[in-house]
Amino acid sequence: MQSHNPALERQDSYEGAGEAQPSFRHFWRKFWELGPEFRRWIIPGVIRGVLRMHQFNSREIVFLGKHVQIIHRGGRGRIVAGRGCRIADNCFLDVGSEGLISIGTRTVVGPNTRIMAATEVKIGARCMISWNCSIFDSIGHRMWLEGQDEAEIEAPIIIGDDVWIGPYSIIMKGVTIGNNCIIGAGSVVRRDVPPNSLVYGNPARVAGKVLKWER
Ligand SMILES: CC(C)(COP(=O)(O)OP(=O)(O)OC[C@H]1O[C@@H](n2cnc3c(N)ncnc32)[C@H](O)[C@@H]1OP(=O)(O)O)[C@@H](O)C(=O)NCCC(=O)NCCS
Repeated sequence: MQSHNPALERQDSYEGAGEAQPSFRHFWRKFWELGPEFRRWIIPGVIRGVLRMHQFNSREIVFLGKHVQIIHRGGRGRIVAGRGCRIADNCFLDVGSEGLISIGTRTVVGPNTRIMAATEVKIGARCMISWNCSIFDSIGHRMWLEGQDEAEIEAPIIIGDDVWIGPYSIIMKGVTIGNNCIIGAGSVVRRDVPPNSLVYGNPARVAGKVLKWER
């Protein structure tokens, strides 16, 4: 019997990963604007992306930093990335046998960040995820606490478009973060975050309203 996986049934809507794909002309212009130092840095990243395209289930070339680890735990797990996506050095992407990681157009994932999807981790377009963040949709081990039913192990994480996540933040299972939010450095996000919110702390709490932020 074929296994039922809601994440995979929804995956087609993520092929465009969040928005209309910007043209190559857009990237070419940006590329020249960046200056020679940055150009020298970005070319090896694009080459790494081309060489490791087979590890993604999308057709776009992703900029890949050095020593990015991508673990597919077999089965029907998928990693989908939109155009202009950048994944920096030493990131770790781990997708379970039924999982889906989708990363939206022009989203940047900073160095040493770890994303794990047993069910689904969806990250929107134009997000900036800083260094040393952890985004995982599973607690990884079954557990039982006195007076409670067995704890829920896995629940999808949905991060909207234009979300900036500060360094050393942790986004836990089942959390939905609305569009245009800022998650302050070192936050532990365990509850949903409404759109246009500034949150920080452990546990992260709403501390302000975001009008806009600049990449
Ligand atoms: C999102 C952020 C910019 C908000 O900063 P801000 O609005 O200027 O906040 P302030 O510095 O004025 O601080 C206001 C209050 O919130 C607290 N606060 C601010 N950011 C906090 C955080 N990340 N965690 C815990 N408390 C925080 C401050 O201690 C202060 O408390 P007080 O009023 O009791 O003194 C900030 O949380 C942050 O993440 N800064 C780091 C940005 C960063 O790492 N950038 C690197 C590139 S990704």
